[in-house]
Amino acid sequence: MRIGGCLHVTTETAVLVRTLRAAGAETAWSGCNPLSTQDDVAAALAEEGLEIYAWRELSKEDYYWCIKKVIETKPNLTLDDGADLVTTLHDAHADQAKEVIGGTEETTTGVHRLRAMAKEGKLKYRIIGVNDAETKWDFDNVYGTGQSSIDGIIRATNMLIAGKNFVVGGYGHCGKGIAMRARGLGANVIVTEVEPVSALKAAMEGFHVMPMSKAAEIGDIFITATGCDNVITEKEMKLMKDGVILCNTGHFNVEVSVTDLERIAKSKREIRPNNMEYTLADGRRLHLLAEGRLVNLGAAEGHPSEVMDMSFADQFLSLIHLAKEGKKMKPGVYEVPKELDREVALMKLQTMGMDIDKLTPEQVRYIGGYGEGT
Ligand SMILES: NC(=O)c1ccc[n+]([C@@H]2O[C@H](COP(=O)([O-])OP(=O)(O)OC[C@H]3O[C@@H](n4cnc5c(N)ncnc54)[C@H](O)[C@@H]3O)[C@@H](O)[C@H]2O)c1
Repeated sequence: MRIGGCLHVTTETAVLVRTLRAAGAETAWSGCNPLSTQDDVAAALAEEGLEIYAWRELSKEDYYWCIKKVIETKPNLTLDDGADLVTTLHDAHADQAKEVIGGTEETTTGVHRLRAMAKEGKLKYRIIGVNDAETKWDFDNVYGTGQSSIDGIIRATNMLIAGKNFVVGGYGHCGKGIAMRARGLGANVIVTEVEPVSALKAAMEGFHVMPMSKAAEIGDIFITATGCDNVITEKEMKLMKDGVILCNTGHFNVEVSVTDLERIAKSKREIRPNNMEYTLADGRRLHLLAEGRLVNLGAAEGHPSEVMDMSFADQFLSLIHLAKEGKKMKPGVYEVPKELDREVALMKLQTMGMDIDKLTPEQVRYIGGYGEGT
């Protein structure tokens, strides 16, 4: 198979690429975010003979040039993170899209985009939404993003988290992980939400819940994890205290409005790597980390390998599934087959040196039956 990849170029991704090649695939790769490529990793892969188009801090134009170079290798399987590869393939190389056997998608925002394409009848091949597998969404997004986003904030600020009002925009998988870890470091955690059930879950977990306009007045550190745009705009920025930290860990840099910040600021200067201090007309300073892009990948190294192993095992097994079955499947967005999800969980437990119980035949009969009551 010829696999075209568009995924953060990190050490974990390098292991995934080596695994795909060890299984006999040809690969061509680009990064999926202008600020997340680890240049030493890209260089090492290039030295191994891999076709790779990625470097840190590339322009938007170069970013899409890299994706086009991957498309030029005519992949018959795609592996995407955020759906920029798939949308470019459909927009600029429509005939080629029809020839692709299948693809996988790594993140929540990408799965949303692909479902929207499928709904409009635009998606030309079948894609497995790896993000939605339990062994991915409930671990990578929660514990991976939880830890690595805090890591990014600390590396870019060297701030003490204890005692700070720490505002988390969105209490989904990522938001939940970040809120949990910020609380562990002693922060006073505030959650903002738009979904009543998610807001209620945050409240019952013991977090303060309020609209962003209220949180803006008291927060010290703000992080967005929604997949939505304009969560923090000029309106909220005007209410903020002097010295606050603003950052985002959602897929695209649209959650904290960088455009608004650039417009209302009188001046800016980089005070540490990945930490831009914006001074407003009244003298207040707001600090934007990693240009409002994913702070865990821009200012730190992304998730540790001990959680990416599960996500990438899902990726690998899903690609094998597509290689075998893809041609029989109709174009659309599919879930990771349940048995693969279970297999990955079982393998992970084994690598952690843990074993679990097995149902006896009697228990299987009991759980599956309705005859026995009080
Ligand atoms: N930084 C990373 O490494 C990383 C890892 C995984 C996912 N992501 C990205 O993070 C984002 C969130 O992913 P997730 O899996 O947590 O999604 P999710 O669907 O589980 O949660 C998103 C939450 O945000 C809430 N929300 C939406 N709009 C909002 C708004 N305007 N204000 C407040 N809350 C709002 C939703 O109600 C939902 O509860 C996506 O863009 C995803 O692609 C990033």
